[in-house]
Amino acid sequence: MIPRWPRRRCLAAPLLALLVGAPGLVAAQAPPAAASCIACHGAQGEGQAAPGYPRLAGLPADYLQRQLQAYAGGMRANPIMTPLARAMSAAERDQVAAYFSALPAPARAASAAPVVAADVAELALRGRWSEGLPGCMQCHGPQGVGVGAIPPLSGQPARYLAAQLQAWQGGKRPPGPLGLMASVAARLSAADVAALANHFGTGPRAVPGPAAVEPARAVATGFVPPPLSTIPDNEFGKVVRQGLAIFEHTGTNAPAFSGNALACVNCHLDAGRLAGASPLWAAYLAYPAYRAKNGHVNTFEERMQGCFRFSMNGKAPPLGSPTLVALQSYAYWLASGARVDPNLPGRGYPKLAKPASAPDRARGEKVFAADCAFCHGPEGQGQQAGAVQVFPPLWGPRSFNWGAGMGSVANAAAFVKANMPLGRGGSLSDQDAWDVALFMDSHERPQDPRFVDSVAVTRQRFHDSPMSMYGRRVDGVLLGEQSVPAGGSTVH
Ligand code: HEC
Ligand code: HEC
Ligand code: HEC
Ligand code: HEC
Repeated sequence: MIPRWPRRRCLAAPLLALLVGAPGLVAAQAPPAAASCIACHGAQGEGQAAPGYPRLAGLPADYLQRQLQAYAGGMRANPIMTPLARAMSAAERDQVAAYFSALPAPARAASAAPVVAADVAELALRGRWSEGLPGCMQCHGPQGVGVGAIPPLSGQPARYLAAQLQAWQGGKRPPGPLGLMASVAARLSAADVAALANHFGTGPRAVPGPAAVEPARAVATGFVPPPLSTIPDNEFGKVVRQGLAIFEHTGTNAPAFSGNALACVNCHLDAGRLAGASPLWAAYLAYPAYRAKNGHVNTFEERMQGCFRFSMNGKAPPLGSPTLVALQSYAYWLASGARVDPNLPGRGYPKLAKPASAPDRARGEKVFAADCAFCHGPEGQGQQAGAVQVFPPLWGPRSFNWGAGMGSVANAAAFVKANMPLGRGGSLSDQDAWDVALFMDSHERPQDPRFVDSVAVTRQRFHDSPMSMYGRRVDGVLLGEQSVPAGGSTVH
């Protein structure tokens, strides 16, 4: 059992913010305590690949501060660092953390293993969701550059990276925020650890250690779509690949039809393959179908138009357009070998039973702060690494609009329970999932594109359900009244 991240934010954060932001403090002025560090960590905090001394430059300040605290407290045991961290006062640890954090990240060094096996690249990028394992870059950002409070993997010695993963596997490093890394490491084999360390790291290669633990393996049930590496190399395969590219990078590959910072894959996880996250293969086999939302039989293409218009806050691509043909080809290919059945196990988001007590916003806000803000940001705005949206926004002008399926508290609770926090799906209680879903869906977002006359009329026409907060008053604000227009052409 991995302990939950304590419900407390980093106490030193305000102090660090002061130190980092203080106008008089130039990065070049090393605090006295830093003098003894550079022998190993390098004059610019760049680290040393051969002996495996990690890079400190440009790492998140609160991350460094927590590591020094963990060494000092013995939770992260290391014969070199523990005595060094203990010799510093708490204030000195904060100072050196702020100092190294402010140093520029070293230029990218060559990877330890420049030729990367396709399966390692896939594990690093998309993970292995059959075992509940997200891709490393889903949290560590593109090429592992680090995002917000999540440290970089790039520029670290390969052997150091391997040693850290092994430390988590052996319970020798604190589980860290939300137990995310302890849970990730538990799903890696000895061969995975070495391959990933070489993929992201620099310097001498890491070699597989003894298999200390048997990786946790979830049992895959029901239909399993074919691996992406088997997309055929022909004209059809080319279009299937285009569909995959649109699904994963919707704003880049279907800019005319996207009106927010989301991508299809943000809600349909693992490239639309994950059972319980509304997989595309199950959806493909369930249409044409009657939908109450628009009162007629919808084809699969028309169903996808809905997600563009509402979830993507964009415009529906015309039926038969290259965008929909590519997405449909990808979905059809994923469904290879499955039977036509609207009730294929794994379809949709598993419905969540009614909570014991009515969903509550104040409780939901606490769940959000403890379990979601770390990635989605304190204002639900998401986080980017450069131009890449690593953690998607949950509300506000860059998120899904009021007409989207995720705007239903029941849908959101079901999605969150099964899939969030990323990589720890199923860990929230049902009550927490309902509460946080209500909190998330009680914030402004782009207008419902079906808007007519007024918020009240629009609510009555399209949101007349206890599961929609549209047109409800929250903290004095009538939700829907301050929405930016739907279609979001100005807020990519
Ligand atoms: C004799 C070499 C040596 C010296 C001197 C040294 N370190 Fe380290 N440091 C290491 C090694 C080795 C590790 C990796 C330990 C592990 O595996 O946990 C490390 C790890 C760290 C980490 C964790 C990095 C991460 O990415 O999690 C921090 C932070 C750190 N050192 C800070 C410092 C500071 C601050 C000083 C100066 C007060 C210092 N070190 C001095 C060798 C050294
Ligand atoms: C769900 C989010 C998430 C995923 C996915 C993830 N990580 Fe992490 N990783 C973190 C967090 C958070 C930390 C910081 C842990 C801490 O503060 O103790 C971290 C830290 C690390 C560190 C320690 C870095 C250092 O400087 O000591 C390594 C190594 C690492 N991750 C490797 C990986 C690898 C390899 C993968 C892919 C198999 C991966 N991570 C996937 C969230 C994630
Ligand atoms: C903000 C989250 C979100 C995004 C982004 C999103 N969807 Fe959806 N999608 C949903 C939800 C929620 C449902 C289920 C709605 C319901 O049951 O009423 C759904 C349903 C679907 C379905 C029907 C599933 C079924 O089994 O009937 C398809 C197909 C689909 N989405 C495709 C897409 C495509 C293609 C994109 C990108 C263009 C996309 N979605 C973007 C949330 C999202
Ligand atoms: C470890 C980081 C992390 C944590 C913690 C986390 N999420 Fe997410 N969340 C993600 C990522 C990454 C995605 C996109 C998944 C993808 O593209 O594969 C996502 C997607 C989502 C989405 C769908 C996309 C959108 O923007 O609407 C919702 C809703 C969501 N998360 C809600 C939550 C809630 C609620 C919590 C807290 C209970 C939470 N998440 C905790 C990383 C995280």
